[in-house]
Amino acid sequence: MRKLNWVISFLFIGFMLFGCGQKPSAENEILIGEYSSLTGTTATFGLSTHHGLLLAVEDVNNAGGVLGKPIRLITEDDQSKPEEAATAVTKLITRDKVKAIIGEVASSRSLAAAPICQANGIPMVSNASTNPEVTKKGDYIFRVCYIDPFQGEVMAKFAYNSLNLRKVAILKDIKNDYSVGLAQFFEEAFRRMGGEIVAVQAYSEGDTDFRAQLTSLKAANPEAIISPGYYTEGALIIKQARELNMNMPFIGGDGWDSIKLLEIGGSSLTNTYFTTAYTADSPDTLVQKFVKRYQERYKETPDAMAALGYDAGLILFDAIKRAGSTEGAKIRDALAATVNFNGVTGLITIDSERNARKPAVVIAPIDGKMTYKETIQP
Ligand code: PHE
Repeated sequence: MRKLNWVISFLFIGFMLFGCGQKPSAENEILIGEYSSLTGTTATFGLSTHHGLLLAVEDVNNAGGVLGKPIRLITEDDQSKPEEAATAVTKLITRDKVKAIIGEVASSRSLAAAPICQANGIPMVSNASTNPEVTKKGDYIFRVCYIDPFQGEVMAKFAYNSLNLRKVAILKDIKNDYSVGLAQFFEEAFRRMGGEIVAVQAYSEGDTDFRAQLTSLKAANPEAIISPGYYTEGALIIKQARELNMNMPFIGGDGWDSIKLLEIGGSSLTNTYFTTAYTADSPDTLVQKFVKRYQERYKETPDAMAALGYDAGLILFDAIKRAGSTEGAKIRDALAATVNFNGVTGLITIDSERNARKPAVVIAPIDGKMTYKETIQP
């Protein structure tokens, strides 16, 4: 009994010291919100982003914070669901009174949250949503990644020029704004170059059996399959295709950039490629420093979302410094004026549409490793 009392007092003291101490307070800290898929179908997107962002917060706070105050990050899990993303940003804005918001990776979730940030005059910076519609939601909505009209063109160039393909088929996720958009932009660019789309099939996020669609694509005899979607379905699609003796190249976009792709896809990933924002293989000293620090802290190599999460944080904190204020409109103006910011995903300039102009890289996930192939400039 005495022992139990001790434990209770100990827990109580701990709560007083740490629990209360952590209460966010707007006077002596700058509160920044993050909505992220920490659980659910694309949990690695959210966790990677969160880890990258934590390093950015650590950097800025170690350097004395922003406007003389430390940054405090308040994170809400949206469970990989668009409805929850809307709820999460509403909470961050109305309950926590954050000054700006970072998120999301998935375009469908950024599209659900952006109108709420815009209506409240709270700047939102997406780290990795590439669908063009996201930043069209208003002048408070920014991103630090490239957009899909560019990514679709990069995929088409790689298919047409580097792999010499002329007839391809598309397998897209019709429940996913990113996938539908990227499929369309690829198709437009590939046709413009003189290529042909011989078949198109669709699935829905969460599906696990793609044999019917693959069999139908196989009948059209494509030289390669373009599969813009997320890593879970992407890896299963490739595995099942190989079982059906479809050994042609598979090409995806940044939605494949997760260590889970390697885990699920294994050896079936031979002869597959995807485009993304960054490579941990870059010899750049800034990148190598980031990769080393991230590996030490989280025991894994940072993927694109982690790197973009880090950059999104740094760009936002830099904008607040330049704004000299935490007022929404002033942060927005400073974000819009971002020029040649040296991030781990390259030099970032925010254009007049509030998108980042930057190169893309092509990766081949071979032998359990993300292997860098080439860089394609905007
Ligand atoms: N670009 C994807 C989207 O807009 C998200 C994503 C980015 C996924 C980077 C993985 C890596 O939905």
